[in-house]
Amino acid sequence: MGETFSVSVEGVLKSFDGTPAVNDVSLKVRKGEFLTLLGPSGCGKTTLLNLIAGFLQPERGEIFIENELVTHTPPYLRSIGMVFQNYALFPHMTVAQNVAFGLKMRKVPAPKIAKRVADALEMVRLPHLGARTPRQLSGGQQQRVALARALVINPKVVLLDEPFSAIDKNLRAEMQVELKQIQKRVGITTLFVTHDQSEALSLSDRIAVMSHGRIEQLSEPAQLYRNPATSFVASFIGDINKLPCRLVSVSDAEAAFEFGGIQARLAASHAEGFSPGSEAVLYVRPEELTLLDAGDPAANFGAATVDTHVYQGTHVDVYVRYDDGRVLRARHPGFEAIERFPAGGRVGVSANLERAFLFPAS
Ligand SMILES: Nc1ncnc2c1ncn2[C@@H]1O[C@H](COP(=O)(O)OP(=O)(O)OP(=O)(O)O)[C@@H](O)[C@H]1O
Ligand SMILES: [Mg+2]
Repeated sequence: MGETFSVSVEGVLKSFDGTPAVNDVSLKVRKGEFLTLLGPSGCGKTTLLNLIAGFLQPERGEIFIENELVTHTPPYLRSIGMVFQNYALFPHMTVAQNVAFGLKMRKVPAPKIAKRVADALEMVRLPHLGARTPRQLSGGQQQRVALARALVINPKVVLLDEPFSAIDKNLRAEMQVELKQIQKRVGITTLFVTHDQSEALSLSDRIAVMSHGRIEQLSEPAQLYRNPATSFVASFIGDINKLPCRLVSVSDAEAAFEFGGIQARLAASHAEGFSPGSEAVLYVRPEELTLLDAGDPAANFGAATVDTHVYQGTHVDVYVRYDDGRVLRARHPGFEAIERFPAGGRVGVSANLERAFLFPAS
């Protein structure tokens, strides 16, 4: 027997009106893992969660919870706790009744219910609010009740659909830390959905980046940032410059490319599958571009004119314009770059092309 996964999704397809919302997706979630589905609105995150939870049935493919086939098992028999995109607390029930709901449905005896509800509310640090109704709670508190309600049934996996989207930014950061602490303490497998990349990067053991119903890449956060598998992932995760260019020559060791009359080289391993004449797009992050004084021979990426500065506290983004009009963003720590490279002045550009990615022009 191989590794037991908390959730295995195998070749699952689900369409609405003939259009696939989840398109041949396979995914294995490890035990105890915090895995995030990340992608833009409409890419199929909620649909995939609903398929795993059992609120939707796939047209094709299978779903397993800890090796048990559940593709056609009703939701309440799947050992899954779910927090919905809009909390979905019962407004007419107290907090304690909300949390108790899943236990009642499972016919747990009353004295046991009281104890488990108290434990669950303790876990989310709301032990004293059991008698209130959801209306009497803040958004963050409602969110914690929803989490308690999902965890109280001791599920094998908890599914969280954009749980913090309605919470203001400061409280959100606090809730993220808290969720991560609870998840670690309880050790529960967590499948989390967000379209917020910084939330995904900070919380997750692994991230599945979705686009148009498919998983584009499943990796650890740092891998997504440093080694994006597709142009979509490269542009979705972090800031990046996109530079249309043309391959000039490709040898065993290196590839030369050209843009706006400037030639640059990168390792052949970065240009696999490209041949001379191919149209391509070079993706390079702002922090991999360094500005130099005009004429500095270390400038491997041509010369340009400083356009504008955007001061960001920890760093300055300097926009530079090449003679053909294209603009690149370079990032310098501190604010010293504002004085050193004034607007309108000429600069040399140096690019760390070890950390750049070449994708075919679409
Ligand atoms: N019940 C439905 N009937 C018809 N189309 C649907 C239904 N549910 C989802 N869709 C469509 O399926 C696609 C995926 O929707 P889904 O809700 O899974 O996206 P999402 O990634 O969760 O987006 P968001 O970030 O906005 O919540 C969308 O094009 C959506 O319009
Ligand atoms: Mg959604």
